[in-house]
Amino acid sequence: MTSDLSPIERAKFVAAKRAVDFVQDGMKLGLGTGSTAAWMVRCLAERVRNEGLRVQGVPTSTRTAELAHDLGLTVVSLDEAKWLDLTIDGADEVDRDLNLIKGGGAALLQEKIVATASDRMVVIADAAKDVTQLGAFPLPVEVIPFGWQTTKSLIEELLTGMDVLGRDVTLRMNGDRPLLTDEANYIVDLHLKRIGNPRQLALVLNQIPGVVENGLFIDICDVVVIGHGDGRVEVRDINAGTVEQDRLFFTAPDNIFLEADE
Ligand code: A5P
Repeated sequence: MTSDLSPIERAKFVAAKRAVDFVQDGMKLGLGTGSTAAWMVRCLAERVRNEGLRVQGVPTSTRTAELAHDLGLTVVSLDEAKWLDLTIDGADEVDRDLNLIKGGGAALLQEKIVATASDRMVVIADAAKDVTQLGAFPLPVEVIPFGWQTTKSLIEELLTGMDVLGRDVTLRMNGDRPLLTDEANYIVDLHLKRIGNPRQLALVLNQIPGVVENGLFIDICDVVVIGHGDGRVEVRDINAGTVEQDRLFFTAPDNIFLEADE
């Protein structure tokens, strides 16, 4: 079954599988959103089944909540958990300082709240997301529907003074309607091509009243696990200053792949 996976899915799978090694019995966990995070939820459920781990998971989207429920994980709200030991989530881009672009799946708001309420954030990604500079992936910004066109204009005006290469801002659509986030907000995508100063951009975007949150995660991620299609993984820990290389073999039981639906 694993041989049926594309190289990119194998890369996501090995990153997720390796990251689940960070989970210990009794932990409260933030469960990320997206196709890579979905592998993590499946690998976590496998460890819970096989080892009897007692963990609680706080999902970062309705999609992840449904998957975690379906796989028999104990799901609690962030308010019930209050503080988390570890969050494992995907990303759209990761730079050398472990700053991130997130929100390709429109879940950036819950993802940022959950990751910030965690002792540690581990990001899982395939090698294509490993970049020297952020910005090729459009930066998602969650905005309030009320007056969103004015908010978009304010963002465009702000970008004229920022160190970026592109300045197009587009409303994310779902068919012929604006896409709605889990909080019923809109997403605008900022096509910046290159972000010279992600820290500054993250701060100033959030000064615009209609902006709820932006997809730049600065100084939030502690560890990144980069997966490759041939089973290699690289684990970078920004606090310890270590980089470990490892190789995983595709030994997961077939049912973990049969459950794959993203
Ligand atoms: C969800 O809003 C995002 O932040 C995802 O974590 C990110 O888009 C990565 O998704 P994939 O793992 O599907 O590429």
